[in-house]
Amino acid sequence: MSAANDQMPPPSEPQVGAVLRGIGAVMPWAFGMAVVLALFAGYRLRHLELTTAERGAGYMLGIIGAMMMLLLLLYPLRKRVRGLAFMGGNRLWFRLHMIFGVLGPVLILYHANFRLGSTNSNVALISMLIVAVSGLVGRYIYAKIHHGLYGRKASLAELRGTLDDTRSDIAALFAVSPGVRDELFAFSERVLQEPSGVLHGLGRIVTTRIAAAHTRRRVHRLARRDIAARSRDAGWSRTEARRLLRHVDNKSRAFVKQARAVSEFALYERLFSLWHVLHLPLFFMLVIAAIVHVIAVHFY
Ligand code: HEM
Repeated sequence: MSAANDQMPPPSEPQVGAVLRGIGAVMPWAFGMAVVLALFAGYRLRHLELTTAERGAGYMLGIIGAMMMLLLLLYPLRKRVRGLAFMGGNRLWFRLHMIFGVLGPVLILYHANFRLGSTNSNVALISMLIVAVSGLVGRYIYAKIHHGLYGRKASLAELRGTLDDTRSDIAALFAVSPGVRDELFAFSERVLQEPSGVLHGLGRIVTTRIAAAHTRRRVHRLARRDIAARSRDAGWSRTEARRLLRHVDNKSRAFVKQARAVSEFALYERLFSLWHVLHLPLFFMLVIAAIVHVIAVHFY
């Protein structure tokens, strides 16, 4: 090691924490890209017949993929059965559920060499793909109603509380630009109206996003104009004015984001319970199809 390296102080704990958090944030993307690449390569190279489902590596991939799908069931089991706490936390099993839920189907696709076959194997393959895609949709909705993917479940009252705190915070802050405050309050009033049903709610998600972008742009323009006028009167420096504008932008961005989260929460909660109702029967269909498939290929 060089003398310069010898003199370097060891990284401080917050630095190490930031690096680990950075790695943690990149991992799901790296995993997703590796999966997409593996699917693309497997599909494009299927004509080479690198695997055969009946024997050798292809057969083993089928067994490992099926084992992964059995193992992923430990998550719902661990979640429901208190006596299984010795297996480790729910968080770990949820993570493994999602990893095996993606890897298992990828291995099964390699086992099938990305081709359809007999009726029983087609039903098993298609059920598996439907359940895996349904899992990905569930994961998206799940993250919307929890504090992060592995955090506890959020509640509407809690989100409303945060929004109310920010609302009183900005009421004082925006004395310099009352137009900004009015714009933000008008936005929140509009998006917090109850949608009449799920379809209306889904449409509302799109219109709220468009309205949010529009509100942020208008707020920025209004704040820039009012702050410029006020800084001329009060003799603020350019740095001070710029800092205030950035502050107003940050606060209004946070407010718009929180209002959106409150407005979408009830809908995502409803969608998640609908998803549960659909996901379980799909899963049982997969179990039956997989059992029929295994019996058919081994006994007939
Ligand atoms: C073929 C693969 C998969 C099977 C067989 C499967 C099966 C299941 C089962 C049986 C449940 C429990 C439902 C319940 O508790 O009522 C579940 C929940 C869930 N799965 Fe999967 N899943 C698969 C793939 C995936 C994937 C790929 C993801 C996301 C990356 C995923 C995300 C979820 C989520 C978010 C839940 C709800 C968790 C909760 O409510 O605590 N699943 N899955």
